[in-house]
Amino acid sequence: MPSNALPIQLPMSVRQTKTFIPDPNSKIPKIRLTGFSTFRGCEALYFAMGKSRYGIKVYRTESLAKKSYKRQKIASRLGLAPKVGNFYCIETTEQEFGQRKPYYGFETQKARQVTLRSPVWQRDNQKLYDELRKIYLHGDFCEHNCGVINNKLVAIDFGSHCDVLRRRYRR
Ligand SMILES: Nc1ncnc2c1ncn2[C@@H]1O[C@H](COP(=O)(O)OP(=O)(O)OP(=O)(O)O)[C@@H](O)[C@H]1O
Ligand SMILES: [Mg+2]
Repeated sequence: MPSNALPIQLPMSVRQTKTFIPDPNSKIPKIRLTGFSTFRGCEALYFAMGKSRYGIKVYRTESLAKKSYKRQKIASRLGLAPKVGNFYCIETTEQEFGQRKPYYGFETQKARQVTLRSPVWQRDNQKLYDELRKIYLHGDFCEHNCGVINNKLVAIDFGSHCDVLRRRYRR
């Protein structure tokens, strides 16, 4: 990444925006996320991107981001996950991941949060778990890692913990 593209710390009030930074050496498009992530887990940052129908998931490494993208794409084709959009190389001002740059991530359809008391969770959780199990992606299944899209329960977290075959086959 060129030195003039290094991120600067911006105040909380700065709106989340994305800007392409052209890079002749990589086919992966670069974007810059300013402001702070909306949510974060152990592996991923999530930027809601205002009222857009898609948010952006950000990971520390290209490998983890690509695997998560691939797993979510497989599940989304079966109607078990939010749809994915473009894959990006990401420059972010978020300090959570320390100073290692760049990050990688992708656009994901947004889901509404769910709790153990949500009727959709109670109605669909066993069925969704069984479907994810068929594709070996049920390893991180819990209400925090699910959401609702169009009144349907979907899994939203396709980080490394969901893949039960990961250690055995190093995929
Ligand atoms: N598609 C989505 N729609 C809405 N919110 C989302 C979506 N994906 C992620 N989030 C939010 O971002 C948070 C972190 O995402 P995710 O669970 O994928 O990260 P993680 O680091 O793998 O989490 P964990 O701590 O479970 O390992 C979620 O708990 C959720 O609040
Ligand atoms: Mg999670």
